[in-house]
Amino acid sequence: MEIVIVPDARAAGELIAAAITDLLTDKPDALLGVATGSTPLPIYQALAERVRDGRLDAAEARICQLDEYVGLPAGHPESYRSVVLREVVEPLGLTEDSFLGPDGNASDIAAAATAYDRALAEAGGVDLQLLGIGTDGHIGFNEPCSSLSSRTRIKTLTRQTREDNARFFDSLDEVPHHVITQGIGTILEARHLVLLATGEAKAEAVALAVEGPLSAVVPASALQLHPHATVVVDEAAASRL
Ligand code: GLP
Repeated sequence: MEIVIVPDARAAGELIAAAITDLLTDKPDALLGVATGSTPLPIYQALAERVRDGRLDAAEARICQLDEYVGLPAGHPESYRSVVLREVVEPLGLTEDSFLGPDGNASDIAAAATAYDRALAEAGGVDLQLLGIGTDGHIGFNEPCSSLSSRTRIKTLTRQTREDNARFFDSLDEVPHHVITQGIGTILEARHLVLLATGEAKAEAVALAVEGPLSAVVPASALQLHPHATVVVDEAAASRL
């Protein structure tokens, strides 16, 4: 695992956008797995800037989701589909045709999760998967004690994660209890994992993931199993390493 410490979130965004530019130069139709939350936004802003000024041609890129809430109405601004379309797909000049995601409103959620897992494989697998990290060490929505070999499936959010994500909704009550998330085993199949963490609030989770024992209690520690994992942290998130 490679650990890269950068001064701040903006520098992290630039660094990762440069790596994605290199990937798309080598493989224009690469499948890029994107994460939601606040942390990766500087990456998406840096990518959009590169497209605008001609440093990046992302026209053939394909984008896929890491996870999704279950049961938010179609078009809800905080469904992860809406977030990824707004923050990544549209700014890169792409359309929904280039986008893969699980159906959080399917009548059979378990089947929708399995179908999404299969769709990722059929698309040739994820070339680069961006990850954030929860304060409890989760990746995607794989909460502590998720199986390290889990596949895409339905999960129940912990109260901590619902509270962490309540800032995107009008109240805690509106945060869904259930989600579809790529499993840890699914995530580990991506060819390159890039986890970004910024800010002091993530410092403990980062230290446990990177320097702690491999454990389902800290899902992000699964990156220790991956042959090509990069953890990018700012000074604050690196403060307990
Ligand atoms: C959610 C997402 C994760 C993300 C996490 C941290 O739980 N499912 O993919 O990493 O939030 O979000 P933030 O970057 O806003 O702290």
